[in-house]
Amino acid sequence: MREIFDLTGKVALVTGASRGLGRTLAEGLADFGADVVLVARSGEALERVAEQIRQKGRQAWVFPFDLSRVDEIPGLYERVVEATGGVDVLLNVAGIQRRALAKDISLEDWRAVLEVNLTAVFALSQAFARERISSGRPGNIVNIGSLMCEGHRPTTVAYTVSKGGIRQLTRALAVEWAQHGIRVNAIAPGYFATEMTKPLQENPELDAWVKRRAPLGRWGRPEELVGAAVFLASEASSYVTGHILFVDGGWLANL
Ligand SMILES: NC(=O)c1ccc[n+]([C@@H]2O[C@H](COP(=O)([O-])OP(=O)(O)OC[C@H]3O[C@@H](n4cnc5c(N)ncnc54)[C@H](OP(=O)(O)O)[C@@H]3O)[C@@H](O)[C@H]2O)c1
Repeated sequence: MREIFDLTGKVALVTGASRGLGRTLAEGLADFGADVVLVARSGEALERVAEQIRQKGRQAWVFPFDLSRVDEIPGLYERVVEATGGVDVLLNVAGIQRRALAKDISLEDWRAVLEVNLTAVFALSQAFARERISSGRPGNIVNIGSLMCEGHRPTTVAYTVSKGGIRQLTRALAVEWAQHGIRVNAIAPGYFATEMTKPLQENPELDAWVKRRAPLGRWGRPEELVGAAVFLASEASSYVTGHILFVDGGWLANL
């Protein structure tokens, strides 16, 4: 039965692979056999991740790219397909946060968050699906949502709206592309200790809030998302699409 989780022979493109959750997930997919295309802005950091993946005996390709340049995503994708022969799994992890109350946030910050967290995810998914449909091959998209797919914490309005968008984008694309053999799901992590959440980890009140609110009583560790990503990226989830899988230490169950 273990082979249903096997990703050998699959090419996975992971955005946000230079650090944090994306880096851990890129290395995790490689542990289960995938060759990996790494995308983020920092080429040097991506090279370090690629080296780790090559040491596991897998192929890794590095594509430094700023996903806020949404109009250039189709060109990026063409180059990726040329280099790899085609991508089987798209893992949309890259994301940004701009913290401000709804009454204060600038339109510039609002647009920046929506562009990277939502519009770029759509553009990359569209490029992926067009290639899969024209080559007649199946595919698999895994987006990264958040607890903000469900609720809001003051100071994160643009982020909340972007992740609410990810929830509905995941469902919309799952419905439209199932007929082409493309499944679309999302992982919605609770609070995980990464650079993005450093300001929260370093604030004693917010740190205590996270530990009190999550029934498992602690922050998530990035490697605790690998199982969910491998499940959704592999044949193990062959009848799952349009699903938002919360990996949140029990957060949402807790009143
Ligand atoms: N940490 C959490 O608790 C948590 C919880 C729920 C959801 N999430 C989501 O998980 C994802 C990863 O978060 P994280 O905590 O790992 O954050 P992180 O440590 O800040 O990493 C963000 C990643 O996104 C990349 N990125 C940012 N802007 C980019 C751009 N314009 N173009 C290309 N790549 C870009 C960064 O690489 P470069 O800087 O090199 O470009 C980096 O690899 C995000 O979607 C986030 O919303 C995180």
